Amino acid sequence: MSNDIRRIAINTGGGDAPGLNAVIQAAVCAADARGWEIVGIREGYDGLLFPQNYRDGGLMKLVPDDVEDIARLGGTILGTTNRGNPFRVVETAADGSTKEVDRSLELIESFRSHGIDALIAVGGDGSLGIAQGLCEKGLRLVGVPKTIDNDLDATVLTFGYNSAVSFATECIDRLHVTAQAHRRVIVVEVMGRYAGWIALNAGIAGGADAILIPEIPYDLTKVAEHLKRRSAAGRNYSIVVVAEGAFPKGGEVTVKSREIGRAEVLGGVGERVATELKRLTGCDSRAVVLGHLLRGGSPTALDRVLGLVFGTAAVKALAEGQNGVMVAVNPPRIDYVPIKDAIARMKNVPLDGEAHMTARSLGIALGD
Ligand code: F6P
Repeated sequence: MSNDIRRIAINTGGGDAPGLNAVIQAAVCAADARGWEIVGIREGYDGLLFPQNYRDGGLMKLVPDDVEDIARLGGTILGTTNRGNPFRVVETAADGSTKEVDRSLELIESFRSHGIDALIAVGGDGSLGIAQGLCEKGLRLVGVPKTIDNDLDATVLTFGYNSAVSFATECIDRLHVTAQAHRRVIVVEVMGRYAGWIALNAGIAGGADAILIPEIPYDLTKVAEHLKRRSAAGRNYSIVVVAEGAFPKGGEVTVKSREIGRAEVLGGVGERVATELKRLTGCDSRAVVLGHLLRGGSPTALDRVLGLVFGTAAVKALAEGQNGVMVAVNPPRIDYVPIKDAIARMKNVPLDGEAHMTARSLGIALGD
């Protein structure tokens, strides 16, 4: 089956995550070792859908020399987009009106016309959903799971997550001292969409006093009581970590913006929580949003290795004739799971899991 592959492509879609370049480096080396050509598609599928926008025509020919040592770099040398769904390309007419157009068949034809036999699609749930759709229409591909949110089912870990948790922890460490110096409550908002993995684990590692995650709708009067008890015991500062997707009991997530052709953008819950805690505790409160800082910077050693392992495994999967699968970590093994199963449901923090129970046992308030 592998003999019919001569040229493959790799792309990165959705929000960037530390470790993407490691996947690219490993995939290029593994493809080259098999005698395959490999090209990188610029910015998701845009390099093929809008080649006129790129000086190199939207495709980047990659050889091992081009990617030497990029595993240590954050971002992605290919660029990425979270507006790049070929099934729903937004087109703007002369009068300013917009409509969504399905360009998926044209895209698949473009793979064929460029002599690309298969694709390695690196992305989170949205990008892998697109990959699954293209696969069902005849594009041969293997997926690689990426997201700092760690919310993809069927893999124990996604790369980017460890880097995000490590950096969030370092930030929380720094915030302890300034919160203490000013006797403040500092609310730290972290990314994670509708899953609380980053908040919970960075909060535990950074010694937070309260952690609010989407899996546990919060009641701020409970959090305020906890902070007041701390104050009464002489600890007159507190750190509260809140996931961007956390929401009050009976309330809604805080949405920053909604736009046609992309997922809703979350953000602002930190400010909401800080304002309310100030009212309830009387303590001076501040909100800090870590946001995209969690996606920037160099990947941790773990994320570099995970990215390199995934990139190598994706090429191996194509060589073995696999199609429509995603590489996944299932320690100590790397598995291949059908993409459609991997995206069928989101991986939330289990409330009977060790991290959650550890947080409770440490006396951290979880807002319930
Ligand atoms: O899914 C990754 C992620 O970083 C989320 O944690 C966050 O909600 C979202 O992407 C932000 O995306 P954008 O790049 O549009 O700000």
